[in-house]
Amino acid sequence: MLNVGFVGWRGMVGSVLMQRMIAEDDFNDIEPIFFTTSQAGGTGPAIGRDTPPLKDARNLAELMAMDIIVSCQGGDYTSDIFPKLRAEGWEGHWIDAASTLRMEQDAVIVLDPVNLGVIRKALSAGGRNWIGGNCTVSLMLMALNGLFKADLVEWATSMTYQAASGAGAQNMRELIKQMGVVHAGVATELQDPASAILDIDRKVADTLRSAEYPVDNFGVPLAGSLIPWIDKDLGNGQSKEEWKGRAETNKILGRESNPVPIDGLCVRIGAMRCHSQALTIKLKKNVPLDEINSMLAEANEWSIVVPNERAATIRDLSPAAVTGTLQTPVGRLRKMSMGDDYLSAFTVGDQLLWGAAEPLRRMLRILIE
Ligand code: HSE
Repeated sequence: MLNVGFVGWRGMVGSVLMQRMIAEDDFNDIEPIFFTTSQAGGTGPAIGRDTPPLKDARNLAELMAMDIIVSCQGGDYTSDIFPKLRAEGWEGHWIDAASTLRMEQDAVIVLDPVNLGVIRKALSAGGRNWIGGNCTVSLMLMALNGLFKADLVEWATSMTYQAASGAGAQNMRELIKQMGVVHAGVATELQDPASAILDIDRKVADTLRSAEYPVDNFGVPLAGSLIPWIDKDLGNGQSKEEWKGRAETNKILGRESNPVPIDGLCVRIGAMRCHSQALTIKLKKNVPLDEINSMLAEANEWSIVVPNERAATIRDLSPAAVTGTLQTPVGRLRKMSMGDDYLSAFTVGDQLLWGAAEPLRRMLRILIE
């Protein structure tokens, strides 16, 4: 069995990866070795079998004994360790959740239900660097897989509603703290059915703007508000998160030389771990809606089509409904008033599952089978 080293398994994405690997019995098919940046000699995660004491994640010799390394440790670790391993001549497979290597020529962004062909081609050409994609891009491609498979997308815009988890575990905690502070400020008034809603609203607004509102991580209020900027400012009016839409989609699809234009506006909202997106898709031709529904539903087992009806939509197409599941439902499908080749769509997906851990887990399976 192949020696597989895990780095960063304790963090949020790493923990979800561990949960999924246990659920799918993946550890039965590998020799898992756990690394740590801080507790060498300690005990690894409870995966239902004994594992050796934790090894030092900066010890190149220990890392080079691995056939495969899976890192959820973050970009700084990748930037530090990966080039050294390759410089020393390590020829193993590197599977990484961090974005550091994503756009490198010799890296494949892995999302096998969408780009198994690209992965297989790179594997047979000797590819060894397998990087998880941006969560929003991966979730959009999972949901719209059918349209891309049929090469029907002339261009698309994606307006996102991104969850706190995309910013990190501390940000999720801060979102809940903010919710608590908002509630605490008006708890007495809320208990009195006769209290005036505009007084409650004014107090809430004062809380959001007060110096005491907890914003150490987000920098500004999220609960009771939203943040229409995610990731770095590229200086051209676009955020880095928005730039990734086109760059990563086309790299995943292996069509950098013939890219599909994709752009949009990325917004952080007060959901916990499900990213949602509203899409406007310009189709290459006028395809009837029932055919589009079938294409989307049949493209992969996770892209469920939610009927474009009120009851089904509010029940099934929300972060509350989807969180913790592998489904990437797509709904609100209709031809827009601009013309029959303009399609609207809305998708929701768990940012930690298909948006982060699941493509890595499945890449590992591809390598060990
Ligand atoms: N950049 C994403 C976000 C997270 O901030 O929501 C991971 O791809």
